[in-house]
Amino acid sequence: MCGIIGYVGREKAVPLLVEGLKRLEYRGYDSAGIAVLEGEGLIFEKCAGKISALESLLRNKNFDSTTGIAHTRWATHGEPNDLNAHPHLDCQGNIAVVHNGIIENYRSLRELLGRKGHKFTSDTDTEILAHLIEEYYDGDLLEATQAALSQVEGTYGIAVLCKNNPHQIVAARNGSPLVIGTGKGENFVASDVAAILRHTNRVVYLEDREVALIDPDNFSISTVDKVEVTPEIQEISWTLDQIEKEGYPHFMLKEICEQPVTLRNAIRGRLNYEEGTSRLNGLNLQYEELHLVDRIILSACGTAWHAALVGEYMIEGTAMIPVEVEYASEFRYRSPIINEGTLVFVISQSGETADTLAALREAKRKGATVLGICNVVGSTIARETDGGVYIHAGPEIGVASTKAFTSQMMVLSLISLFLARMRTLSLEQGREIIDALYKIPDQVNEILKNDSTIQSIAEKYYQKNNFLYLGRGFNFPIALEGALKLKEISYIHAEGYPSAEMKHGPIALIDENMPVVVIALKDKVHDKVLSNIAEIKARKGKVIAVATRGDSEIADKVDHVIYIPQTLELLTPILSVIPLQLLAYHMAVLRDCNVDQPRNLAKSVTVE
Ligand code: G6P
Repeated sequence: MCGIIGYVGREKAVPLLVEGLKRLEYRGYDSAGIAVLEGEGLIFEKCAGKISALESLLRNKNFDSTTGIAHTRWATHGEPNDLNAHPHLDCQGNIAVVHNGIIENYRSLRELLGRKGHKFTSDTDTEILAHLIEEYYDGDLLEATQAALSQVEGTYGIAVLCKNNPHQIVAARNGSPLVIGTGKGENFVASDVAAILRHTNRVVYLEDREVALIDPDNFSISTVDKVEVTPEIQEISWTLDQIEKEGYPHFMLKEICEQPVTLRNAIRGRLNYEEGTSRLNGLNLQYEELHLVDRIILSACGTAWHAALVGEYMIEGTAMIPVEVEYASEFRYRSPIINEGTLVFVISQSGETADTLAALREAKRKGATVLGICNVVGSTIARETDGGVYIHAGPEIGVASTKAFTSQMMVLSLISLFLARMRTLSLEQGREIIDALYKIPDQVNEILKNDSTIQSIAEKYYQKNNFLYLGRGFNFPIALEGALKLKEISYIHAEGYPSAEMKHGPIALIDENMPVVVIALKDKVHDKVLSNIAEIKARKGKVIAVATRGDSEIADKVDHVIYIPQTLELLTPILSVIPLQLLAYHMAVLRDCNVDQPRNLAKSVTVE
């Protein structure tokens, strides 16, 4: 997704901005650009392609500027090319704008500005912002930006420079995250703290419709409607070390291997053995209110939606509360039925996904209490929900989600335990779950140690073009997630199915060229899954089974087995997904794919 960084201070801006852009590369982008105030002028460079292409344009130019803005673009309006890359300028070339988000009324604004004589050079919605600010500009950049934004419908995170206002950046946010970083004699603006964390950990998150005026020594915040806002400075505890790869070849592998730690963090301080339950203070709901909950809706996108599916099995299986899982993109446009006893959870790693945010707002509009399960602290979803549970997985940089997914499931198991202990579950049963939860991080570690087996399986199959993933019960969503991981990063076509559905269609695909990954754990559907395996083998399909350690019989029935430790059925998805993450990872590496930034994908999808 698009990234923004701006700098105003005493250092040379260009190297600092380029370095900041590189920190945002993981978000996915298709073009990059920069604008600086140099001497008396405003200079910009931009191009389609990687940041290295932008660096080539900047090489040998030796800019001395100490004020500038920069951008990585992920195309929404207009194809990814040099002209559509940001920054965008007004007619005179005095004002430069970088923008994340979508201006919904840009067509009517473009017509209006066109009638006033403005000339446009790109197909973007962003360009109208530069012209609109030009229209209102009479020396005060803040006021002109406020006036322009009051005309705008849609989402934006923007940073604006003007040739006539040296040492100033104006930044604004509506629906697209923006953070001000404050240092000594220098200040920053960025769409993501990762871009500026090397320079400062003191930040202020802008809220919707807030505008900031930033110079080297000060910054002030007001709203689009010119109401002054008192900034609240927060200290970020994530270090750059946490963000960088720590010696792993890819962020994705680092994040897969971090899971014993991140899963421990997800339960840290949240288990009460004495009472056989979990402690989730962030829910912000009274015991009585939680007791009245008679229906739960879980809404999310992508991998987080798979976590929601696991959550459905967990909550219904333990707390006996009916659960519905819905894609956020569908929920927002339906007329969802919300009753007094309905509790809505939205699940989002980034906390910024546009569809999930819209689902949250729709649920609130309908009177629901909406809770969040988020990773990014202070994200929009985290702020707009009535309460919730952070998963504390730390920054996830690989575009394909791994550690956030397992932590989302871990938190959903805590929520299930909590709700179940208020209802049907006995103290003993609660303690049994807690005992099993404590063991999960070490069990994940054991699976990770078996990586060489998984790698050798990947070596056998990485040239295949199609894969099928099957699972049942708690592990049906893991079949979906395993298939998603593979297609996201290796571009191999893969589909996930509930095992028993195989006979209703996918079985037609099976021949000696079709590898089938089957999650075949020792659970109550084990025998039935073995029958599915026999059906695949009868058609010469290749079976890679994820099985429970100790199940030696399965080895004769399949081509490869990856064993995982035994746990309660409810927690098996947290373990069974680990080998599937590694399998996808190794196949992508063997196919020479860009594991951390798969083509066409973005880490945080802040547009519809
Ligand atoms: C994008 C990412 C997925 C992610 C989904 C939801 O599509 O590529 O990995 O699962 O968004 O993101 P969220 O931040 O809301 O969990």
